[in-house]
Amino acid sequence: MTSSSTSFSLHGGNSFLRNIWYYGLPAADLKPGRCQAKVLLGEPILFCRTTSGKPFALRNLCPHRGMPLHYGRFDGKEVECPYHGWRFNAHGHCTLIPSLTSDSDVDLKNFGVLSYPVREVQGNLWIFFPANGRNVSEPTLEVPLVPGFSAETQPQAVQKFIFPGHLDQVFINFMDPSHAPFVHGAWWWRKRGKLFEKAKTFDPSPYGFTMRRHPLLRKSWAHHLLGGHPEVEIIYRLPGIRIETNYSDRHTFCFLITLTPINDQETELTATYYWTFPWLAPLKPLLAPLAREFLNQDLRIVAKQSEGLKYKPPLTLIKEADYQAKWYYQLKREYEKATQEEREFVNPLKTQVLRWR
Ligand code: FES
Repeated sequence: MTSSSTSFSLHGGNSFLRNIWYYGLPAADLKPGRCQAKVLLGEPILFCRTTSGKPFALRNLCPHRGMPLHYGRFDGKEVECPYHGWRFNAHGHCTLIPSLTSDSDVDLKNFGVLSYPVREVQGNLWIFFPANGRNVSEPTLEVPLVPGFSAETQPQAVQKFIFPGHLDQVFINFMDPSHAPFVHGAWWWRKRGKLFEKAKTFDPSPYGFTMRRHPLLRKSWAHHLLGGHPEVEIIYRLPGIRIETNYSDRHTFCFLITLTPINDQETELTATYYWTFPWLAPLKPLLAPLAREFLNQDLRIVAKQSEGLKYKPPLTLIKEADYQAKWYYQLKREYEKATQEEREFVNPLKTQVLRWR
């Protein structure tokens, strides 16, 4: 290791942060009276929405014999296990064990399933993964919000991807400026292999860092579409959240990327788009495939990288193009430590200008 580089690992033993909100699913995907099963952070989760519209999430395993609850029935209020009919409410409390006789002294309180706090904002359902699998009634940590849009705003578009890589690997890809000229060549974006000197100011921000809002010196075709004098700000936040806001003279286009690990080899990426441009909606059929192809370029390069990572090679972070990845690990370590010590997270980063080509 030299003073200008750091060795690091993207394989094995990379833990996921707990005690934090992860993106669960688009709120519109969970209709009243319906459930949806997912595996997130290696845990089986059952998302449900009551007939009155309230979302909730339970561990998707019956505590009796381990039956996945999504095979059972949901009456819009309670989930019934298909095997012996135990029932669980939105808090995970067991409300019925049909085999018990009327004079039984079994206390149903002893047979609940873990319930995860969920919150619905800006058309997104967030799920809180407590530390040590404990029940947490109401986390004090706020869910991430896309700035400039109200909590009731609904997304204009949502795209979903499964990236074949660990969360760390995928998130680092999205904060890595030097891959863009080699991975993202497209007629509507920029020519492959063209390099420009860049200098950007970064500030610490809640649970992460922010590339300070700045005018775009070189506009892509897509930025020309926004018109005026576009400016950009990009927020990175634990555990895997990237919020890019493009400002034109009068309007805003916001691109939220959320990463939630399925397990240590697959990460779910959801791209959620918000905008205030009244004329953009009719162009959705044209723009959606372009945005999907852009993210597929990332997906394909991560898939190829995963082939190499199977051999557990030593890896390197160099300055300054890789500083954002270094910061991510610093933030993650501090978050883990703060969780273990049951104290407030203290952002370890300072304002800094980074230069790269
Ligand atoms: S396995 Fe669920 S009720 Fe028996």
